[in-house]
Amino acid sequence: MTTMTKPTYEQVVKERRSIRVYDPEVKISKQEMHELVETTQEIYDLAVEKGVMPADVRDRQVPAIQGMLKDIPKERLKTMNFLDAGLAAMQIMLSAQARGYATNPIGGFDKDHIAEAYGLDKERFEAVMLISIGKAAEEGYQSVRLPIDDLAKWV
Ligand SMILES: Cc1cc2nc3c(=O)[nH]c(=O)nc-3n(C[C@H](O)[C@H](O)[C@H](O)COP(=O)(O)O)c2cc1C
Repeated sequence: MTTMTKPTYEQVVKERRSIRVYDPEVKISKQEMHELVETTQEIYDLAVEKGVMPADVRDRQVPAIQGMLKDIPKERLKTMNFLDAGLAAMQIMLSAQARGYATNPIGGFDKDHIAEAYGLDKERFEAVMLISIGKAAEEGYQSVRLPIDDLAKWV
């Protein structure tokens, strides 16, 4: 981060880069970690509590989604979870960046043993990605992006 004032959205997106060495002196509080990831928790109840969703909409939606999910094959659920986790991961990394913290998404880990290592039920949880987070203690590498027209088809 090159500025101490609140970064703009453009700065957050442009300045975020993977950092693999962090300042061991800087500890992120549990409260701040909660704020960083809170978008991922109990979203319907929270929406009602905050008054942005009527309770009857939640009460219709939740059983409808639960009913739909129980009929979806496991493999397809896995794809949906990976998609959701990817979106959440980016959100967490940009949220961290906006608060002056650096991150690194990590896909290279022991997929067969990660759940046990964190005391999670292996049948219920599958780790999609690890994200390291902290105060950057290195500059990291500047990355490049392929031209958008090579990646997207405008229809
Ligand atoms: C799915 C995925 C898995 C990744 N796995 C690793 C990893 O195992 N170790 C690592 O150091 N970086 C990992 N990265 C980080 C990438 O190397 C990094 O995001 C990429 O070089 C782009 O750099 P930037 O994040 O600074 O834009 C991973 C990134 C993604 C998207």
